[in-house]
Amino acid sequence: MQNLYTHLINREHPLPKDYIPEHLVDIGIPFDALPDDPKRLLEKRAAFAALELISRSHREGLNLCGISGYRSYHRQKELYTGSPYAAPPGTSEHQSGLALDVSCPQVHMELTTDFAETREGIWLARHAPLYGFILRYPANKEHITRVPYEPWHIRYVTKPLASCLSLTGITLEEYYTIQEENLRTGTDKRTPAR
Ligand code: DAL
Ligand code: ZN
Repeated sequence: MQNLYTHLINREHPLPKDYIPEHLVDIGIPFDALPDDPKRLLEKRAAFAALELISRSHREGLNLCGISGYRSYHRQKELYTGSPYAAPPGTSEHQSGLALDVSCPQVHMELTTDFAETREGIWLARHAPLYGFILRYPANKEHITRVPYEPWHIRYVTKPLASCLSLTGITLEEYYTIQEENLRTGTDKRTPAR
């Protein structure tokens, strides 16, 4: 499978059960997990971008902390069985190694929507796109993503795509709907009217 940096991963576009990212590395940021826990890992390029993002936040006096990065298909299956918030196995971005959940001490390292109101949550929403990440499950887009608001879940999509999505305010689902429409109608190939 080619790299998944800009791929849409959701219920309609699941990952193969046996998909494991080729290069998983420890992000190297403070993490609320045991030293050898695979949740500390991300795909290499995403991990490097996350390290830059989180390191900058620390230089600015913030306390962002990693909670969950990579999750195997089987780990996601276990979580899905026990939690209403987990995506069905195969449909979680965490299996791609491109998604990271973060939190901070002000909300006791919990994954809660209150995180959005913290200094860390506000900073994250503003700066994540500069490092190639998007807040993947925004408020008021639940009917499109089919995932409740998660201000703690960031997804690496590369800097160009993160800039595009954050400037336009559209989700990855909407972006791909527009792309498919352009392909279908040939819009991108048409010569602009003079
Ligand atoms: N909570 C998100 C949707 C996941 O499990 O990937
Ligand atoms: Zn997540």
